[in-house]
Amino acid sequence: MGLPADAFAHPTLLGRSHARVEGADKVTGAAVYASDLRPAGLAHAALVTSTIPRGRITGFALEGARAVPGVLAIFTHRDFAGALRPVKHLMAGGYANSAHLPLGSDAVAYAGQIVALVVAETPEAAAEAAARTGVTYAAEPFAGTFEAPGAETVALADLKEKHVDPGCGDADGAFATAAFRIAARYETPVQHHNPIELFTTTCAWDGPRLTVHEPTRYVGAVRHGLAAQLGLDPADIRVVAGLIGGHFGSKFALSQHTALVALAARHLGRPVSLVPTRRQGFTIANYRPETRHDLRLGADRDGRFTALIHAAEAVTSRFDPFAMEGTDVTASLYACPNVRTHERAVRVDRNTPGPMRAPLEVPYLFALESAVDEMASALGLDPIALRRRNDTLTDPISGKPFSSRPLMRCFDAGAEAFGWSRRAPEPGTMRDGPWRVGLGCAASVRPVKISPATLRLALAPNGTATVETAHHEIGNGITTLLAMAAAEWLGIPIEAVAIRLGDTALPPAGLSGGSSTTTSLLHTLALGCETLRTRLALACTAPDGPLAGAEAGSLRLEAGSIRAADGRAVPIAAAIARLDPGEAETLAAFVPAGAGPESLAAIRGGRMALASGGQALSWAFGAQFAQVHVHAETGEIRVPRLLGAFAAGRILNPLTARSQLTGGMIWGLGSALLEETVLERGAYRNPDLAEYLVATAADAPGVEALFVDDPDTGVNPLGLKGLGELGIIGVNAAIANAVFHATGRRHRRLPIRIEAVL
Ligand code: MOS
Repeated sequence: MGLPADAFAHPTLLGRSHARVEGADKVTGAAVYASDLRPAGLAHAALVTSTIPRGRITGFALEGARAVPGVLAIFTHRDFAGALRPVKHLMAGGYANSAHLPLGSDAVAYAGQIVALVVAETPEAAAEAAARTGVTYAAEPFAGTFEAPGAETVALADLKEKHVDPGCGDADGAFATAAFRIAARYETPVQHHNPIELFTTTCAWDGPRLTVHEPTRYVGAVRHGLAAQLGLDPADIRVVAGLIGGHFGSKFALSQHTALVALAARHLGRPVSLVPTRRQGFTIANYRPETRHDLRLGADRDGRFTALIHAAEAVTSRFDPFAMEGTDVTASLYACPNVRTHERAVRVDRNTPGPMRAPLEVPYLFALESAVDEMASALGLDPIALRRRNDTLTDPISGKPFSSRPLMRCFDAGAEAFGWSRRAPEPGTMRDGPWRVGLGCAASVRPVKISPATLRLALAPNGTATVETAHHEIGNGITTLLAMAAAEWLGIPIEAVAIRLGDTALPPAGLSGGSSTTTSLLHTLALGCETLRTRLALACTAPDGPLAGAEAGSLRLEAGSIRAADGRAVPIAAAIARLDPGEAETLAAFVPAGAGPESLAAIRGGRMALASGGQALSWAFGAQFAQVHVHAETGEIRVPRLLGAFAAGRILNPLTARSQLTGGMIWGLGSALLEETVLERGAYRNPDLAEYLVATAADAPGVEALFVDDPDTGVNPLGLKGLGELGIIGVNAAIANAVFHATGRRHRRLPIRIEAVL
């Protein structure tokens, strides 16, 4: 069964703005998040985490904790050692966000590691007892940062089986003889996601069966990972993630604390819930690791790039292979005949980092798009003109074509809307009273990812439909998109569609990540809708059917009926009654181009299966523009205006799409100017929202996202690209480039704070 031939031929919903179907529930407090559940008999857990970065636990002083009224149990490695089997990292073919075994031994491998779990009658008693749990340690030397003695540098090719550093030509030779050369080091800091909903879990046993309520972006990985850890049959584990209060790449896979809470619940014979503190979220979940980039860019006198050398390093933990491969993007963005890249991971004594919104593009394009701006300055060229001169329709590394390449159309549309032409060529020359004014821009690009998925679709005789899949609503609007598309393709009102997500009891789907959700699920849903349409059409056009003589392929579901081109129509109920059995239900399974049938088995087994599409290179594109004001005396930096122009394939719901993009842009502003997790003696020094600064509404008074047409039929049948991550990319460089334009000073280390510009 194929996709509908005319999926977008008669749009009444798709392509138009529609408010979130769950929006009213969210703003009235009726929406249920995993953390809201309170099963009968619930006990409450709290975590104790290590205060040293490396060493051994020598003892516990538990009298004070046990004396807290309501304390039920305190679990340490002495209770749980051997209880859990190791599981691998999701990106290494396993299920976990860290292969570190929780409460597995007396060894401390990083600061903030879980060293005890306290359970009590109330959350307050659990927190009080956790605070009174005494732990003594024998500390050992540690390495917490790039520079620390003992940090171990490994080539990415040695860490990840399939990694190849992309390259072509003779980059070193070409750089040595280039007419214009930029050579600089760019650095990005540790950043943490800080979703509003914390990293909670609630575990309840019913005999041998375990039910877990947890905000996770991959219920399948939690289910299968727990099964592997606890030695259970996955069929005995149900994981439910209702609405999720944000993840942005955290809540990544099976977490360290979930199995501990499950063990505690089994031990106590009661459901147990854990709401870790925000501070604990900094070490029990993943984060964006710090990176540094040695970048060399050579150009001829006309501004054509002749050499690009990008050597990059990112921190990772001692025990996991997590590392994002970023030069895949920087090596392929511009035409350049000579490219050399080298990526390394630096292993330190910290918790494992992980993906955070556009994990690789955010740091790697900060480096490249800053260097491109530096080159424009060196050449005396407008930065957009320089990019146009180096635009390419094919990937310089593989020679493959881009399925569409609207990058310069994004720059043109953005420049027009932003008023780029008012930018004075000379930096440091625009003023507004006491403020130095700077305008900067940068590219935002991201390879398209798509995942296999399965989904159950049912159309009832009363004209209502149900869509069920174990994917997740993380606040991105996928519930609304599924409802819009099901209504459109089944010819029923959107109010008649019910969407059920986030539950391993539903047909398996992949993880909510890689900006792949819309692209993956809409193709799966389209398959399901076409299956039902065809089934009803064949039943109605049979020789004894009410639409006999009509061609089944031309029948359409519309306004509660199935209609022939000649105007005859049969109500859905009557059409369904002709089916055997008399119900319209289908299980759709979608495998994208570039993924084999085994990818379906992978998502059924809770593993990772993101594909990058067909033969061409498919990317989403954007151009980011920033207007920055730097106070001449105080150094205060304000960003009165951010504008992004984005080309991301077909846009299905402009309202939620724009909201995704502007949300990303605001985060990009925070990333450029505010966000940094500070390390001190191997530990995160500012793990809370008082000292870890994120952008607020007042920091971002003017943020605009506009769409550039991108009819890319090569990317996938529906022409979808995904844009959950596109909005944050490029903002770092656009702002840094604008600060340079305002002040004449280049900043190559983020965040750019007052003290840096003074
Ligand atoms: Mo991304 S942070 O892998 O959704």
